[in-house]
Amino acid sequence: MYRTHTNGQLRAEHINETVTLSGWVQKSRNKGFMIWVDLRDRYGITQLIFDEERTPKEMMEVAANLGREFVIQVTGTVIERESKNPNLPTGDVEILVSEILILNKSLTPPFTIEDETDGGEDLRMKYRYLDIRRNPVRESLMFRHKVTMAVRNFLSEKSFIEVETPYLIKSTPEGARDFVVPSRMNEGQFYALPQSPQTFKQLLMVGGMDKYFQIVKCFRDEDLRADRQPEFTQIDCEMAFIEQEDILNTFEDLTRHLLKEINGVEIGDFPRMTYDDAMKKYGNDKPDIRFGMEFGELNAVAQHKDFKVFNDAELVVGIAVPGGNTHTRKEIDKLIDWVKRPQVGALGMVYSRCNEDGTYKSSVDKFYDQEDLSKWAEATGAKPGDLICILSGETNKVRAQLSALRMELAERLGLRKATEFAPLWVIDFPLLEWDEETSRYHAMHHPFTSPKPGQMELLKTNPGDVKANAYDLVLNGNEIGGGSIRIHDKDIQATMFDYLGFTPEEAKEQFGFLMDAFQYGAPPHGGLAFGLDRLVAILGGQETIRDFIAFPKNNSGRDVMIDAPAFIDEEQLKELNLQLTLSK
Ligand code: AMO
Repeated sequence: MYRTHTNGQLRAEHINETVTLSGWVQKSRNKGFMIWVDLRDRYGITQLIFDEERTPKEMMEVAANLGREFVIQVTGTVIERESKNPNLPTGDVEILVSEILILNKSLTPPFTIEDETDGGEDLRMKYRYLDIRRNPVRESLMFRHKVTMAVRNFLSEKSFIEVETPYLIKSTPEGARDFVVPSRMNEGQFYALPQSPQTFKQLLMVGGMDKYFQIVKCFRDEDLRADRQPEFTQIDCEMAFIEQEDILNTFEDLTRHLLKEINGVEIGDFPRMTYDDAMKKYGNDKPDIRFGMEFGELNAVAQHKDFKVFNDAELVVGIAVPGGNTHTRKEIDKLIDWVKRPQVGALGMVYSRCNEDGTYKSSVDKFYDQEDLSKWAEATGAKPGDLICILSGETNKVRAQLSALRMELAERLGLRKATEFAPLWVIDFPLLEWDEETSRYHAMHHPFTSPKPGQMELLKTNPGDVKANAYDLVLNGNEIGGGSIRIHDKDIQATMFDYLGFTPEEAKEQFGFLMDAFQYGAPPHGGLAFGLDRLVAILGGQETIRDFIAFPKNNSGRDVMIDAPAFIDEEQLKELNLQLTLSK
C-alpha cells in the first residue's frame, strides 16, 4: 500500500497513529541534527521530521540527500508539532519518520514549483506537467472540473441527454477555417474536424432526442487571442419544440445556478439588449455592463458649427470618464496616442473637461461655447469632475474605436472587477453580415439560423436589415455563449443557402444530408453553445483561457511540450497519397 492518508488529511486527532504517506519533496530544511521535509501531493502538504536522537543514522543520510521533486514513500508516527503552522491545514502535526523509500528520483526542475514561480511562460509550457504541480494551475484545473460537473448535473437533471457526435466529419461552417485530416482508405479525400457539432445536434433533434447536450471539443483554424484556442470545449445544447424564450430561460437558469454554486453570487433576471442597442450604447455586441460610460451620440449638438472634422463625420460620439478631469494634459495626450495606435485606428480624439464649478474646457473651444459643451455633457451623462472623450468618423469604425477606449479606461480605473458579475442576453442579431473580402453576405451566426418571423421577404430587398432569431450570452464583456432558433423547413433552408451564394449543387454536396433529414418530420428546434473555457475563466475571475486548459497551445497554435504540429514521414505521406510540397 502506497499510502494510508493523503498529504492534506492529517490533523491533531491523528496524533500517535502510524501512517504511510507518498508524494513529492516540495522542499527540505537541514539543520544537521534535524531535517524537515515538506511532502506534497494534490491534496496538500505534510511536514516530515527526521532527527538525530530518534532517527537511525542511515535514514538521516537518505533524508539529507533528498532532492526537490523526488517521489518518496514514508511510514511514521503522527506527532504534535512544536511550532504549529496556522497557514497549513495539516500545520498542527508532523510525521516522525521510521521508514523511507525513494520511489523515484527527479532532476532539478527547470523552474520552482511554487505559487510564484521563476519560470517564464514558454518554459512552463514546455514542462507543463511540472507547471501542473503548482497550486495555481492545479486549482484552475480543479475549478474547471467543478464547473463541468455542475453543468453536467444541472443539464442531466433537466432531462438533457449527453450524446457524443463524431470528430471525423465534413465541414461545418462556423466562420473559421477547418482543420482537415487525410483519409488513407479514401484516396485524395479528407475529413474535417468539427468547428462545432452543429449539424449533428440538429439531426439528433430530427432523431427525436428532444434535449441534447455534449461537453465537446471543437476545432477552429483561426487567429489566436487570449480568449481563443484552436481546440476548445463547448457545452453544446439543442432542444426541440421550443421557442427562443424557452432557450433563454433554460440557459439563464444554468448560468444563474453556476454563479450561485461556484461563486456564491445571486443574480436576478438577466437584462436583454438588442444587437442594435448594444452597438449604439456600447459600440460592441458583447458589452461589459458592470460600469456605465454609455455612449452619447453627439451629431445633433456637434455638427452645427464650423468644425469640419465633426461636420464631415457620419457619427460623432463620446463617453464620460468618471473623475477623468484629474487627467493632466500630458496624460490626455497619451490617451490620444493610445486611440491613434494602429490596433485602435482613430484619427484623433476631442475632449472636454467638466470642471467642478460647472464650466467646461474643451480641446475645440475655438468652435464650441459653454452651451454647446453643456449639451455634450448632457448627452454623455457627464458630471462635474468627468472628462468627455469624443471620437468621430464612419459609424461602425468609430463605435469600435470608442468601445476599445471605453474598455481600456475601465480597466485602468479598476472598474472591471473580477468578483462582480453582470450577464446579459444580446438578442436580435442581424441574419447576415457583409464581407468586404468576398463582397458578399455571410451568415452572421451560421447558415442554419432562422430569420425573425415575417422577414423572409426583406431578404430580397434589404438583406443587411434582416434580423435573426439569434442570441448571445455575454458575461463581463465576453461572449460566453451563442445560439439560434434553426430553420427546420427544407425549402427555407434551400432559399437561405441560395442567398448565401451556394449553388443548389454546392448546397446539396455540403448539406444534402441535413436537407434530406428535414423531409422526414424535423421538429421545430433551436439551441446554443457555451464556450466552456471562457465560462470557466470568467467564473474564475480571469480572461485568459489558457490558464484553465491542461495542455494549451501557444499563440502560434503550437504545443511546445510535445512539439506539434510536426512534419510526418515520407512513408506516411505516401500512404496517404499526399504530395510532398515542403521539405524539412
Ligand atoms: P459559436 O461559434 O458562437 O456558436 O460558439 C459558441 C461559443 O464557443 C466559444 N468559442 C471559443 N472559445 C475558445 N476558443 C475559440 N476559438 C472559440 N470559438 C468559439 C464562444 C462562443 O460563444 N454551433 C454554434 C452554437 C449554436 O448555434 O448552438 C456555435 O458554435 O464562447
